Amino acid sequence: KLEKIWLTFGISCLVIFLAVIGVSAFYLGNKPPSCLTTINPEKVDETKPFDKPGLHKVEGKDWDYELVYVAAAFSYSPAKVEVPLGAKVKVIATTKDVVHGFEMAGTNVNMMLEPGYVSEYTTTFDKAGEYLIVCNEYCGAGHHLMSSMIEVV
Ligand code: CUA
Repeated sequence: KLEKIWLTFGISCLVIFLAVIGVSAFYLGNKPPSCLTTINPEKVDETKPFDKPGLHKVEGKDWDYELVYVAAAFSYSPAKVEVPLGAKVKVIATTKDVVHGFEMAGTNVNMMLEPGYVSEYTTTFDKAGEYLIVCNEYCGAGHHLMSSMIEVV
């Protein structure tokens, strides 16, 4: 008798949990927080702004430049970029293949790049020097080779 009650209770809890997750995921549209846009990973090169990786000056926005990166095993495009001192830069990045990291040493930029999604972060380069970008998500045999450089002058 008691077993039956507990069994019913257990199953009811499971059903309620699943219902809550289902409603939250599909009805309320909850997704991981870094996902801004969904893009086709196979068409990254044809999708703006990823058709032109690199630094671009922008007008009429809260930031001065947009810095576009495409990651692919095992490198970033562009591999090196020069940024003027004091520039407020919006970093926009994605990956062509698997999940990669995007950590910009010495700044507050540390993102995860996921296939099909765009990761963005805005930062200001107040100090001259070199900023190394590394991959901090294990992505395969060449993981430790993945890097890019920003030179602030
Ligand atoms: Cu890319 Cu690790």
